[in-house]
Amino acid sequence: MPGPEVEEIKSRIDIVELVGRYVTLKPAGSHFKGRCPFHPDDTPSLHVSPEKGLWHCFGCHAGGDAIGFLMKIEKLSFPEALSRLAAELGIELRREGEGRARLLQVNAEAGRFFAHELRRPSGKKARDYLLGRGLPEDAWDRYRLGYAPEGWDGLLRALGRLGVEALRELGLVVPGERGYYDRFRDRVMFTIADDQGRPIAFAGRSLAGDPKYLNVPNTPLFTKGTVLYGLDLARDAIRASGRAVLVEGYTDVISFQRAGIGETVGSMGTALTEAQARLLARYTDRVVIAYDRDAAGEASALRGLAILRGAGLRVDVALLPPDEDPDSLVRSHGPGAAREVLSSTLPFHQFFVEALASRHDLSTVEGKERALAEAKGFWPEIRSLPLQHELARELASLLDLREEEVRSYLRGEGRPVLAREDRSRPGPEEHFLHFLLEGKIPEGVLEDLDLREFKPEYRPVVAKWVELWHGGRKPTAEELAGALPPEDVSTLTRLALLDVSFSDEAQAVEDAVRRFLYLPRLERQIAERQARVRAVEAGGDPAEAARLQAEIRALCQERLRLLRKR
Ligand code: GTP
Ligand code: MN
Repeated sequence: MPGPEVEEIKSRIDIVELVGRYVTLKPAGSHFKGRCPFHPDDTPSLHVSPEKGLWHCFGCHAGGDAIGFLMKIEKLSFPEALSRLAAELGIELRREGEGRARLLQVNAEAGRFFAHELRRPSGKKARDYLLGRGLPEDAWDRYRLGYAPEGWDGLLRALGRLGVEALRELGLVVPGERGYYDRFRDRVMFTIADDQGRPIAFAGRSLAGDPKYLNVPNTPLFTKGTVLYGLDLARDAIRASGRAVLVEGYTDVISFQRAGIGETVGSMGTALTEAQARLLARYTDRVVIAYDRDAAGEASALRGLAILRGAGLRVDVALLPPDEDPDSLVRSHGPGAAREVLSSTLPFHQFFVEALASRHDLSTVEGKERALAEAKGFWPEIRSLPLQHELARELASLLDLREEEVRSYLRGEGRPVLAREDRSRPGPEEHFLHFLLEGKIPEGVLEDLDLREFKPEYRPVVAKWVELWHGGRKPTAEELAGALPPEDVSTLTRLALLDVSFSDEAQAVEDAVRRFLYLPRLERQIAERQARVRAVEAGGDPAEAARLQAEIRALCQERLRLLRKR
């Protein structure tokens, strides 16, 4: 089999990226190191040399080239590994061309089968489900939605004539004890196409039960992490608008595209890969990420953003309202809300730093350590020198460190600062209360405290403190203990004895006030205006909507300023 294609594949595959899909690799001189996936490995024994295109484990002595790695880790034969890499790289293997065309035909047949089942009487449940999600029949056609019937062999019987081997290769049937059976049963089906619109894979959403989404496994036509959902339909809009909007889910893509944001593509729930980033970079140099709020700030999503930046793309992050994903946003608030969200975005580096800041309590040494350790995890992915500078500068000012210190730490091979993760550890609210009991919170702040800003368990303590304070002067913790019922005293002593480590007390007090009071207040003001914008837009008052949006932008700026203040 080795032919000219093998040499081409070997020369074009990026071994660091390939191994990096399975192992976290850190640069070490001219090569990369990581924990070997083939044996239990505490010390990073796996070395990967991009120059030589080879990998070796100094622990278990396994080694080889990129193809060998893929064979070993995915348990593939040489031809299987080769065809998968060829598909990713867009290299047509001559011997394979024919087989591939045939598999595409079988998939097209399967798509027709699912489409047909959706329109049969037994597909009513699925039709109702789609209609209930705001997807009428024209959407079923455009997005090639379908239904996989209940039972075990609907597809097998309908398409068995095409050969069960092809169905197995495509992941449409699975071997069981008594022969093959359908992988997708009683699911709404989504067709995943390549950028030419050819059906290369399917995903099914359950109508009841788990898992919510089921995909075909890797097949000769489909490799996870190399495809973007909806790209075939989005290509022209991406070129025309000069950007791509990246969302997580299938329904997110469909809803956004239908809301007029035709340039939307989906990462399909997984962390974004370099292959996907390269694919996007073929069409545009600018990406707006619209993940739901919690998902966007997660480490894996941040890594994905760094990967996009690494592919030379400009990355902006849209901030969705809390608890909304793109699909739910469009469905409950209309297309206007989606456009609004996409018009107020944060540049990658600001979002990156803001996400770190919101996930770690930067008023404590431990919180700073965790934030730095996390940033260090992404660092190898950030290849742009100007961006590295920008990030290091923002991090340094956020953490009150010198930029050079931050840079050398992030670059260095030194042991990462590992802080213990402790869920019960005190946060900004506890710090604020600690300082309150010490009498350190300034009068101006005390004057407009609202009990509802505190967790219910703390309210009796705060209420009593404020009562005594109104009586003449700030009470000490001891005085307060004497005035509280026993059940509240332990709360009080816990807060009073809190071990708060800081190097600069005034600064720590200011941080606690900012993080516990000012930032949440800003968040509430922003959310309140966003809700008003929607109401005003629905009522058709564009001037008022524009005014509110300007306010929202100003408040977002203010929030950033607060987050970065040090
Ligand atoms: P809906 O509930 O249908 O709106 O789905 P969603 O897209 O909002 O789901 P969610 O935000 O939970 O997940 C986003 C994407 O992650 C999905 O569109 C899928 O691509 C993927 N995903 C979610 N759950 C699963 C799962 O159980 N298995 C797999 N393989 N992928 C999943
Ligand atoms: Mn959803």
